Amino acid sequence: MSPYHPVVIGSLQVPGNLFLAPVAGYTDRAFRSLCVEQGADFTCTELISAEALVRNGVKADPLIRRAALEERYAIQLFGADPEVMYQATALLAPYHPDVVDINCGCPVPKVVKTGAGSALMRQPSLLGRIVEAVVRSSRDHVQSAPVTVKIRSGWDSTSINYALCARIAVEAGAALVSLHARTRAQGYAGKSDWLHIRDLVSRLAVPVAGSGDLFSPEDAEAMLRETGCAGVLFARGAMGNPFIFCTTRSLLLTGSYTPPKAAERLHTGLRHLQLLAQDRGEKTACLEMRKHFCAYTKGIPEGALLRNKLVHAETIEEYRALCRGAEDPVSYV
Ligand SMILES: Cc1cc2nc3c(=O)[nH]c(=O)nc-3n(C[C@H](O)[C@H](O)[C@H](O)COP(=O)(O)O)c2cc1C
Repeated sequence: MSPYHPVVIGSLQVPGNLFLAPVAGYTDRAFRSLCVEQGADFTCTELISAEALVRNGVKADPLIRRAALEERYAIQLFGADPEVMYQATALLAPYHPDVVDINCGCPVPKVVKTGAGSALMRQPSLLGRIVEAVVRSSRDHVQSAPVTVKIRSGWDSTSINYALCARIAVEAGAALVSLHARTRAQGYAGKSDWLHIRDLVSRLAVPVAGSGDLFSPEDAEAMLRETGCAGVLFARGAMGNPFIFCTTRSLLLTGSYTPPKAAERLHTGLRHLQLLAQDRGEKTACLEMRKHFCAYTKGIPEGALLRNKLVHAETIEEYRALCRGAEDPVSYV
C-alpha cells in the first residue's frame, strides 16, 4: 500500500492520511482553510469546553463552525462529566461535524484540575464512560458522527497506560485513537516515543493516528513507515507552514518535493491575516497574526528584521507594506 492512503473512521472515509492536529490558539477557521487548500485531508477544531458550551451555548460558535473549504472536520470537546459531555455533543448538531473528538491529552493545569484532558488517563473507567456518553449522544443527535479520542502515552513515565485507555475507549465505541506519544509530565518537551505508537497499532482493530515531533515531510514519512500508523497529525510543524501538507503528500507519492519560496510564505501569511480579519475583525486579527507571522517568516532572508517590524503592525495595510518591502517585486493583491 502507498504510504499516502485513505483512512476509514467508522462510517467516514477520509481520502488521505495527512491530518491537522488540534492546536489551541492556532487551528482556527482561517488557518484550517489554508491547510485544507494545501492538501490537509482531515482537520480538527481546538479543544472546546463542554461545560462552557452547555452553559453559554452559541458563544463558542466562531471556534466550532466549519471553515470555508473544510469538507471533513472534527470538533474536539473536553470535559470530565459524562452527562455534560452528552449534552455538549447534542449541541453540536447544527454544525454537522463529521467526527466528534474527545480530548484526553491536554496537560494544562486549568483543564487537568477539572479532571479533564490528560487527567482522564488517570481514571480510565471514567474515560470509558465519557466515550460511551458521547457515542450515545452522537447517535441520538448528531447523525451518528463517529467519535474519536486523542490520548497521551500516560500521565508520567511511571504510569504509561495508553494501551489500557485506548482499549477502553474502543470498547466504548471510539472509531479512531490519536496518540501523542509523550506523557503529561513531559508537556511538549523531550522526544515523543514512537514505539508507543507502533505498539498501539499492533493492539487495536481501529486506526491509530500518530502525533509527536512531526516537523517535516521526512518526519511524517518516517512515522508512517516506522510505526504503521494509519495517519499522521501535524501540530507545531504546521504552524506558519500549511505547506507541510502538500510537500508531505508529494514526498509520499513521488519521493521528492519543492519547499515553498519566501514569496509564497509571505503571500500565504497575508491571506491568513485576511481570512482571520473576516472572522475576528482587523484589529484583533493583526494582533493575533503576530505569532503566526513569526512562523511564516522563519528561514526567509532578513526574516529577523522583518519580524521585529511586523510585531508592531496594527493594520492589514501595514502588514502588506512590510511584506512587499521584504519580497519586492511580489504582488500581494
Ligand atoms: C500550543 C499548543 C496547543 C495545543 N492544543 C491542543 C488541543 O487543543 N487539543 C489537543 O488534542 N492537542 C493540542 N495540542 C497537542 C498537539 O495536537 C500535538 O499532539 C502535540 O503538539 C504533539 O505534536 P508535535 O510534537 O508535532 O507538535 C496542542 C499543542 C500545542 C503546542
